[in-house]
Amino acid sequence: MASSTLLEPLLTTDQIQSRTRELAREIARDFGSEPILMVAILKGSFLFLADLIREFGDNVMVDFVMISSYGDGTESSGNVQIRKDLDINIEGKNVLIVEDIVDTGATLSHLCELLQTRRPKALKVVALLSKPMARKQHAPLDYVGFEIPNEFVVGYGLDHAERYRNLPYIAILSGLTP
Ligand code: IMP
Ligand code: MG
Repeated sequence: MASSTLLEPLLTTDQIQSRTRELAREIARDFGSEPILMVAILKGSFLFLADLIREFGDNVMVDFVMISSYGDGTESSGNVQIRKDLDINIEGKNVLIVEDIVDTGATLSHLCELLQTRRPKALKVVALLSKPMARKQHAPLDYVGFEIPNEFVVGYGLDHAERYRNLPYIAILSGLTP
């Protein structure tokens, strides 16, 4: 029998947008007039990045990394792989990692360790969502949009097996067959 999945709204488009503006103000205040290189982790953070960068002036650069620790399931495998590295040399630059959601912390702790070896001037992290109850590894988070319960969420860039990224809000996805 086909399983029936359910989308239970958790964060509205308005909530996401106003929190993104607040985060942008905090980040801009902390970095002052210095240029920022935003490093977005593909694919989940593409909508958050798009909204975040538009809150900044012309001193922002963007690059992407693709890292995966998930298959098509809903449990982090803890097996972190870099699938696409940065194009830009980050040595001496102010780097802000832009992540959609921090779950076990494996992705971020691995990426931060790697990027630190490339000697940026500063390395900070912004995550739209954090699931503190799911943390297994220390993940250095400088800015967090929302702390959420330990549930699987989709929408606003976040997927389940590549679906739901285009939802304009964030919802808990339930009724998944394990
Ligand atoms: P971590 O390495 O366990 O912290 O997992 C981080 C990555 O897993 C995120 O960048 C997401 O791509 C993915 N992820 C974690 N939790 C969720 C979720 O609830 N929905 C969709 N993707 C998630
Ligand atoms: Mg991700």
